[in-house]
Amino acid sequence: MGWFDSKPVWREVEEPGLLPRLRKDQWVEVKVQGKTLLMVEVQGEVLAFESRCPHEGYPLKNAKLEKGTLTCPMHGYCYSIKTGALIQPETGNKLITFPVKVEDGTCFIKI
Ligand code: FES
Repeated sequence: MGWFDSKPVWREVEEPGLLPRLRKDQWVEVKVQGKTLLMVEVQGEVLAFESRCPHEGYPLKNAKLEKGTLTCPMHGYCYSIKTGALIQPETGNKLITFPVKVEDGTCFIKI
């Protein structure tokens, strides 16, 4: 595999205590492959997405999460946390999300 090969592969998330922190309803910001991602657990499912709003790139670390909807604090754009889809306003880009799997207490992100 060369440096030009950008095919996503499963990569371990090297963050101490990640799963217990997620279970306390906390956002956890992690770095994987040079990207800053936010991880959160919603109804037992671990989710990961890029920590930048697709609207104007504002960091999402202080976003509000309620009933599966993430609201960017900058201009109020709302996204589905599970699919990344833009809910409001009607047009714009979706969140960049990444598949997550948990094996033997270790998180992996396909990136
Ligand atoms: S930067 Fe997030 S809504 Fe504008």
